[in-house]
Amino acid sequence: MTPTSSAPGASVTVDTQPAVAQNYRMSDSYGVVGHPVAHSWSPFIHGLFARESGQSMTYPLYDFTPEEFEPRVRELFAQGGRGLNITVPHKMAAVGIATRLTPRAAHAGAVNTLAMQKDGTILGDNTDGAGLVRDLCDNLGLVIIRRRILIVGAGGAARGVIAPLLALEPREIVITNRTAERAESLAQAFAKLGSVQGVGIGYIGGGPFDLVINATSASLSNDLPPITATIIGPETVCYDMAYGKTDTPFVQWSLDKGCARAAQGWGMLIEQAAESFRVWRGIKPATASVLTALKERALGLGAP
Ligand code: ATR
Repeated sequence: MTPTSSAPGASVTVDTQPAVAQNYRMSDSYGVVGHPVAHSWSPFIHGLFARESGQSMTYPLYDFTPEEFEPRVRELFAQGGRGLNITVPHKMAAVGIATRLTPRAAHAGAVNTLAMQKDGTILGDNTDGAGLVRDLCDNLGLVIIRRRILIVGAGGAARGVIAPLLALEPREIVITNRTAERAESLAQAFAKLGSVQGVGIGYIGGGPFDLVINATSASLSNDLPPITATIIGPETVCYDMAYGKTDTPFVQWSLDKGCARAAQGWGMLIEQAAESFRVWRGIKPATASVLTALKERALGLGAP
């Protein structure tokens, strides 16, 4: 199986304990599966986690089409693979590969982390929501309890973060979407977990929100979802789950409308990766230095 190796972060093999690896075992094999996947920063991120935490592991990119996804992932595990990250468009298909799902993966209806267990079964987990929550709370210092949150978008990215956000007991989560019915049915699916409602974009009431999260894929095509400025106030924090070299259209728009601050999803990217790493290796890697290194590499920001 030939991994792709033309990514910005490049395919990496990290072996910081060569003596241990040579004497006792081969490097454990992980990787990320997507289509396309050459743009993925995951090998760069996991390579740094492995180096910083002294783990011996390989982490290449695998570009599998939807047709070849299941057989080739099963083949990787049959060949001794320890775990995989799963990215677009395979997160829902990966549910069918897992023998068992974590509750957060079951809620999300999607898997971004597969982990081979000692008994030969495959655990399916979803670390996206945990990644967002860590970035919001630990990195950006936000308080979620009793706050009003607006999630824009009702696709897979939104679905994956609703349960972890509700667990932090916000006053309410409002989901809005270009296609209103998707927002309504997504809200219904989570109604048992807390205060969550789905509305069409023209029906968002209640004034400015404390936190507005863009979970649409609009930024990927340099678009802005059709939201109105009434959702933004001077205290509002805006967060785009997408990320780019420059401010996304949503981040630009939010700042123009006078929000308190706006961030894009680089921190979520790192934190969800760290949570996958913890699921696989039992170690929570430090993330601050990796975020700095990623931004330096991805955004071309050198040290001052
Ligand atoms: P993902 O897994 O990234 O969430 P998805 O399941 O295809 O991808 O969902 C994409 C989300 O972005 C949807 O909420 C979609 O809105 P619709 O349900 O109306 O299609 C939203 N979206 C994508 N492009 C958009 C745009 N230009 N403006 C507004 N919403 C957009």
